[in-house]
Amino acid sequence: MELNDPILKVLYAYTKALSVALGYRDQLTRLHSERVRDLSAAIGICSGLSESQLEALKIAASFHDIGKIGIPDHILLKPSAFTAEEWGQMKKHSEIGAEIIAATEIDGAHQASVVIRHHHEHFDGSGYPDGLDRENIPICARIISIADSYDAMTVTRTYHSAKPHPEVIEIMRKETGIKHDPALMDIFYEVIESGEFSPIKGRSA
Ligand SMILES: [Fe+2]
Repeated sequence: MELNDPILKVLYAYTKALSVALGYRDQLTRLHSERVRDLSAAIGICSGLSESQLEALKIAASFHDIGKIGIPDHILLKPSAFTAEEWGQMKKHSEIGAEIIAATEIDGAHQASVVIRHHHEHFDGSGYPDGLDRENIPICARIISIADSYDAMTVTRTYHSAKPHPEVIEIMRKETGIKHDPALMDIFYEVIESGEFSPIKGRSA
């Protein structure tokens, strides 16, 4: 991944070590994060983000789920549906992730930390942890939410099978304006239709 800012390269290297640690517990999250980073960056470029926003987007997307390092194995690796209490604990990963990135105290870490905190907010305000809505959600977090949803549904995980691309697009269309930003969804469709990010048939990760 290309990062131009030398300080952010240090932040990336620090956090990469944690990502490797998480990978030993949950390889699926690590691979998912790498795909979300690439799709998020493509959407970010087409959205006309500034250079510094793009850099923060790449860092935040790479490590958006790093907070899962703080989730117990019996929840993180559970192959079936969560109980309400387990789901409550799982939702903490965005706040834990934000805290981990902020703890590096490297320049740029604050911006990436805020994006990670808000990557599960919904456009209509129904997400977590803060129930932010519309433009109150950082644009980089709105982009990661789209890339995260797409990748989660097109890839086989321990708790669900991959859905076909048209079905995923239909689900995301229905969620537009509720979960996802309509303007960013238009850009997402352009990126996806370019073919670069089409799901590989039958892949699992
Ligand atoms: Fe997440």
